[in-house]
Amino acid sequence: MNAPASGPRTVAPAFVLTDVHHSYRDGLESLSGVTLSIEQGEHVAIVGANGSGKSTLLKMLDGLVFASRGNVQALGRPLTEDALEEPVFRREFRSQVGFVFQEPDVQLFCPSVFDELAFGPLQLGLPEAEVRERVARSAEALRLKKLLDRAPYALSGGEKKRVAIGSVLTMEPCVLLLDEPTNDLDPRSQVWLLDVLAEWKATGRTVVLTTHDLSVAAEEVDRMVVLSEDHVVVADGTPREVLARQDLLLQVNLIHEHAHRHGGVLHAHPHTHGQEVV
Ligand SMILES: Nc1ncnc2c1ncn2[C@@H]1O[C@H](COP(=O)(O)OP(=O)(O)O)[C@@H](O)[C@H]1O
Ligand SMILES: [Mg+2]
Repeated sequence: MNAPASGPRTVAPAFVLTDVHHSYRDGLESLSGVTLSIEQGEHVAIVGANGSGKSTLLKMLDGLVFASRGNVQALGRPLTEDALEEPVFRREFRSQVGFVFQEPDVQLFCPSVFDELAFGPLQLGLPEAEVRERVARSAEALRLKKLLDRAPYALSGGEKKRVAIGSVLTMEPCVLLLDEPTNDLDPRSQVWLLDVLAEWKATGRTVVLTTHDLSVAAEEVDRMVVLSEDHVVVADGTPREVLARQDLLLQVNLIHEHAHRHGGVLHAHPHTHGQEVV
């Protein structure tokens, strides 16, 4: 949409979810009334215990699963099964929104890492020089240069994950969705990834990631959205605000209570795995 001749340009939110429900099987909900708005340029972590619905929510943002009730809008347009069947919208949406699966094996199918990184840009019909440039940038950012000739299936779990992330980065989507991106990554690879995301932040791209690791979330994002084990949003705020709510984090099973004895007196306190809570 063109900007009006005068006044500020209005930018549609990246996503607006209104009272969204989803179930894989009758009677068992995986999302139970999620209402959430994410602005373009925001970096948001969806946090919650196993089974709280993080992956389902992220897949919904990518149009891989659809609401059984409620409404999902992406970049100002309704994101429905019908809308995605429309070829122009599908192509536009798929080039704007990139998704990194929790399991890299789902995503990797090319004979070499180079081909894997080049696949998306080639699909976009970009000239070869531009494809090579994007592959080089992505390989540099995620330290994949030495792996370019290797077969993805023969890599370690963490290497595969870096290739899967790299292959989405080369598409240069304006919205990046990452499902548990730091799982399987060693500490150095986590830093490389967080550096990439920080660079993306500077260019105004949107990032939504899921994690159950609060320290990872706190380091990169502007905002944390907490899903409960009942599949609803129970907190939404800056990492500082959310991490201050120890009682809630205990209740939703994101931290655990650690009981121990000092001189015969039993103490119980929340265990935060090194995450500073102030
Ligand atoms: N393909 C599936 N078929 C049936 N149930 C599923 C499927 N995927 C997820 N679920 C269920 O939906 C709920 C939410 O799962 P998920 O979104 O994967 O949670 P999380 O990513 O937070 O661990 C869980 O109860 C899970 O068992
Ligand atoms: Mg998950």
